[in-house]
Amino acid sequence: MQTVRQLADLREAIAAFRKAGERVALVPTMGALHAGHMALVEAAKRHADRVVVSIFVNPKQFGPNEDFAQYPRKELADSTMLSKAGVDILWLPPVEVMYPAGFATNVSVSGVSETLDGAARPGHFDGVATVVSKLFNQVRPDAALFGEKDFQQLAVVRRMAADLDMGLEVIGVVTQRDDDGLALSSRNAYLLPEDRVKAVALPRALGAAARAIEEGGDAQAALAHARDVMTAAGFVLDYVELVDAETLGAPEKGRPGRLLAAARIGTTRLIDNIPVNLNNYG
Ligand code: PAF
Repeated sequence: MQTVRQLADLREAIAAFRKAGERVALVPTMGALHAGHMALVEAAKRHADRVVVSIFVNPKQFGPNEDFAQYPRKELADSTMLSKAGVDILWLPPVEVMYPAGFATNVSVSGVSETLDGAARPGHFDGVATVVSKLFNQVRPDAALFGEKDFQQLAVVRRMAADLDMGLEVIGVVTQRDDDGLALSSRNAYLLPEDRVKAVALPRALGAAARAIEEGGDAQAALAHARDVMTAAGFVLDYVELVDAETLGAPEKGRPGRLLAAARIGTTRLIDNIPVNLNNYG
């Protein structure tokens, strides 16, 4: 695995792949890698001849009171995992390469960026869209892989790639979970042991609500019950909502639905989501 920190070196390495007629896939990450990221790498290997993983803790997607400073940074462990997994290039741009002095561009995707996490974390998806467009322009991949755990992020990136004719395939990969159902996340490392035990209420509440809605139960009552269960477990809720899986707007009978939640347990903010069949909705 080549570890590359300068854009000229990245371009040279990618040009060699292209010259050999190879397909390139990109897995963008912020590091602190876990089995969820490694599932993206494995999927990338199935979609391309060469896999590039980027690690960049992007300051533009953190709000002023968020965890940018304490976000886990584990370059050595990450690099070992990626090398063992057969990744070709680890792209590790320093912040001055990503955002040189005078950087003044903001990429903003309206609609899908505005609700849910977009409302709870103002500016977050502009930061994501800006850095992901830069990564796409730097690597020019044939495919890029994102976890469904960040379901709204995936929708924002898909919209942006389609709107801006970015000419790559955006592939979503199913959320990886611990044995008890908690979605894997770099932020799970913040959880105190007692909060880790309570955190399982999040996927359980979503699962129960999805089952109730799929069986034709009243969706608002199912959502209210999920909110009550999570609050009783100790969560402070940002949202628990049912949306259309593609537009993230109002759900419609017969179309794919998605149930999404964001909530804090202790000082840790967790997000999760699951698909919901809306054939019996409404
Ligand atoms: O999902 C993440 O880790 C980040 O939001 C991403 C896509 C790497 C952009 O910084």
